[in-house]
Parts: sequence; structure tokens; C-alpha cells
Amino acid sequence: MDRYLVFGHPVRHSKSPFIHTLFARQTQQELEYGLAEPAVDEFAQALCTFFDQGGKGCNVTVPFKEQAFTLVDRLSPRAKRAGAVNTIKLTDDGVLLGDNTDGAGLVADLKSHGVTLADSRILLLGAGGAARGALAPLLAELPSELVIANRTHAKAQQLAAEFCDLGHVTAQTYEQLAGSFDLVINSTSASLQGELPPLAPALIHTDIAIYDMMYGASDTAFISWAKQHGARQTMDGLGMLVEQAAEAFTVWRGIRPGTKQVLRELKRNLGVI
Ligand code: ATR
Repeated sequence: MDRYLVFGHPVRHSKSPFIHTLFARQTQQELEYGLAEPAVDEFAQALCTFFDQGGKGCNVTVPFKEQAFTLVDRLSPRAKRAGAVNTIKLTDDGVLLGDNTDGAGLVADLKSHGVTLADSRILLLGAGGAARGALAPLLAELPSELVIANRTHAKAQQLAAEFCDLGHVTAQTYEQLAGSFDLVINSTSASLQGELPPLAPALIHTDIAIYDMMYGASDTAFISWAKQHGARQTMDGLGMLVEQAAEAFTVWRGIRPGTKQVLRELKRNLGVI
């Protein structure tokens, strides 16, 4: 049977096996999907061994995405832009192809929530790997402006400079942010420490859409905060998780699984509904 897995550390709580098993059942594909948690300095070896032993493809998550970028034979254009690989496929001619489906997953999830990206004014919080992966797919939707704000301003400036060929993208400090945004995307890891990005409450209004790439059994700190300040449309990153997985499954199997039912089952599994 064709074998796939996700590499990460820690990865024990990954929902990827659950999601891909449901995709396989739905599309009647024969495959198995497991977990691998190599020591941080043993990822390269573990990846080699997996493909030597007949593995067909894998996902890569924290902290291995940047390393995977350097280990594959070939990169998709979107992986090259993202500077990170979250999906690897062994092609029929034996090439390890590195791809990145995170940004596509984010955009697909935003669209499934009815968020309009074309001509919108988007605020992206954070300038780490998650922000980098999101930029090209977001700019491809032709927003009127995309502003990046980051605690370390120089990193936001660097990202804006790197992506300015793809659209109107600028960097501003949190203090400089002004005017009305249609969508705020939180790509920071602040909530992992129970913190909030230092965003002025005045930027939140009833018609703004709020997206947090993090998720949990209850509202993330950022979503709770935005709701308190009047945001009516809030979304967490669970849908992005399912959508990036659907995109990876499509890369591997050439067949696109439906995501709605799988997202519902995942929510049930997590105790969210
Ligand atoms: P990832 O790959 O998940 O994006 P990362 O590359 O470590 O992770 O980036 C984390 C992002 O969250 C960074 O933009 C970081 O800001 P700095 O560049 O200033 O470090 C941001 N971040 C983390 N904790 C934060 C906090 N408490 N407030 C605001 N931003 C925070």
C-alpha cells in the first residue's frame, strides 16, 4: 500500500493522519498515513530512509519546513517563494519534489468563509515563516493593499521588499497602522505564549474579518480579543489545516478531496462542536 506520513517534532498531536485517512476513504484511494518524530538533527536521515523504503510522499511541519526546502531535488514555484516546504512528493521519475500548500490552504479557507480578497485592504500580523508562506497566494488575489506589521519591524520591511514585485505590499510598525482594514490575518505565534500582538483596538470594527492561523478547542486569545472589540466575523486556522492538506493530497494523488465534511468531522474529533 502507498505510504505517506508527516514529519514534525513534536508531532504526536498532529491531525494530519486523521484528515488524510478521511480524504483517502472519501476518494477511495488505497494509502496509509502515519507520523514520524525524528530528533531535530536526524530529520535529513529520516527523510532519506523513508523514501528509500518506498514512501510516496510526506508532509513536513515545525521545525523541519526550512530544512526540507534544502533537501529536496526540485522546488515548486510556490515553495521557492515561501522559502519552506510542507509537502514532498516522489515523482514517477524518482525526483523528490518540494511544494508548499500552506498559503493556498489559507486562501481556500478564506474564500470558503466568503471573504473577498480582491480590492480589499489586508493587514498581515507577523513576519515569520507562516507570513512568508501566505504572501504570494494572498497577493495573487489582487488586494488593493497588503500591510505587514511585525514586532521586529526590520523583518516586515524585508518581507515587503521581497514580495513587492507581486503587488502593493508595505511594512508598517504596529504604532503606524491606521485607516480601515477589511481583513486582519494573525500569523504570529504570540498566542502560544498566551500573548496578543500589540494591535490598537481602534483598528477593529464590526465589518472587519479576523483570521487567526492558530486554532484550539476554544477561541484563541486573538479571536477573543477581536470579538470583545466588536469584530463579527472571526475564523481560526482549523479550516486552513484541512485545506492545505487537501492541496497536498491533490499533489500526491491527482484527485481533489472535498473538505467540508472532513472539517466537520475534525471539529467533532476536537470537541469544538
Ligand atoms: P512561524 O514559522 O510560525 O511564522 P516564526 O518564524 O518563529 O514562526 O515567527 C513568529 C512570528 O510571530 C514573528 O513574526 C514574531 O515576531 P518577531 O519577528 O518580532 O519575533 C511574532 N511573534 C511572536 N510572539 C509575539 C508576540 N508576543 N507579539 C507579537 N508578535 C509576536
